[in-house]
Amino acid sequence: MNSTLRRMVRETSVSVDDLIYPLFIKEGRSVKEPIDAMPGQFRYSPDQLSGAVREAVSRKIPAVLLFGIPGKKDKFGTGAHKSDGVVQQAVKRIKDLAPDLLVITDVCLCEYTSHGHCGVLNEKGEVENDETLEVLAKTALSHAKAGADIIAPSDMMDGRVGVIREALDESGFEHTPIMSYSAKYASGFYGPFREAAGSAPAFGDRRGYQMDPANVREALREIRLDVEEGADIIMVKPAMPYLDVIRLAADEFDEPLCAYQVSGEYSMIKAASERGWLSEDVCIMESVTSIKRAGADMIITYFACRIAEILS
Ligand code: PBG
Repeated sequence: MNSTLRRMVRETSVSVDDLIYPLFIKEGRSVKEPIDAMPGQFRYSPDQLSGAVREAVSRKIPAVLLFGIPGKKDKFGTGAHKSDGVVQQAVKRIKDLAPDLLVITDVCLCEYTSHGHCGVLNEKGEVENDETLEVLAKTALSHAKAGADIIAPSDMMDGRVGVIREALDESGFEHTPIMSYSAKYASGFYGPFREAAGSAPAFGDRRGYQMDPANVREALREIRLDVEEGADIIMVKPAMPYLDVIRLAADEFDEPLCAYQVSGEYSMIKAASERGWLSEDVCIMESVTSIKRAGADMIITYFACRIAEILS
């Protein structure tokens, strides 16, 4: 009786329709490698995706987000825009396996550059914003040509949404939406991801282009710029340490708002649960409910399949 009433008056609910499941795609064949820092998550080669894709589809998860781990890296991140690059292959494979599963592709250079920065560097070792924009636009276009449904730039260069929009429009992809990592903080919670994707910067850090965790007005400014440049979906990342930013963004903007429960948020819950210090499912649901309560319309989460299972 009491639990029925609680169900009726509950203000926030998480649905499988809200979820986006990230996948790491590694160049090669017959690869399914566990990621040490993210128990339960794997690196898959494009030919090994069918299991993960089938699971996502059977659990009715609407979308996946792809990250590429190329065989070769170079100074300019050229692997990011090869027509037969690792992400481009994976997009084609997933669209063959499951045409209705939305494929979102992360657009960034850090997985493809030998130095691990998100852009092209000048002689002084600084990221060259405008040169990087060209490479990002090429990358986005190559993803769209491979069949990606949504393009998600995560590099945080100034002006990237505008150049990507223009590149897509010029090539007949004016209906391909852009989901922009608009307010992306320079966060310690990306640690496990950098192990997963082998994308830790070889020197320095990302504070030159990612946001200071102390700032919130700056987040709104970044989001506004992305919207003006044509972002269709906006994003706050990470999620749980930035619930206030999610709330403000939800109040301020009409665009669909996505929040990214990042690798460190995942691994903390996994590690503490393995030790018996937290009850895993309770904490998973509490964390994603709080992200929705703060105002997110959709959530990128490595727990997507588990949440779908819990909800059913
Ligand atoms: C690439 C990128 C990162 C993440 C998503 N896209 C890493 C970074 O900026 O260092 C992190 C995601 C996660 O931690 O789950 N720029």
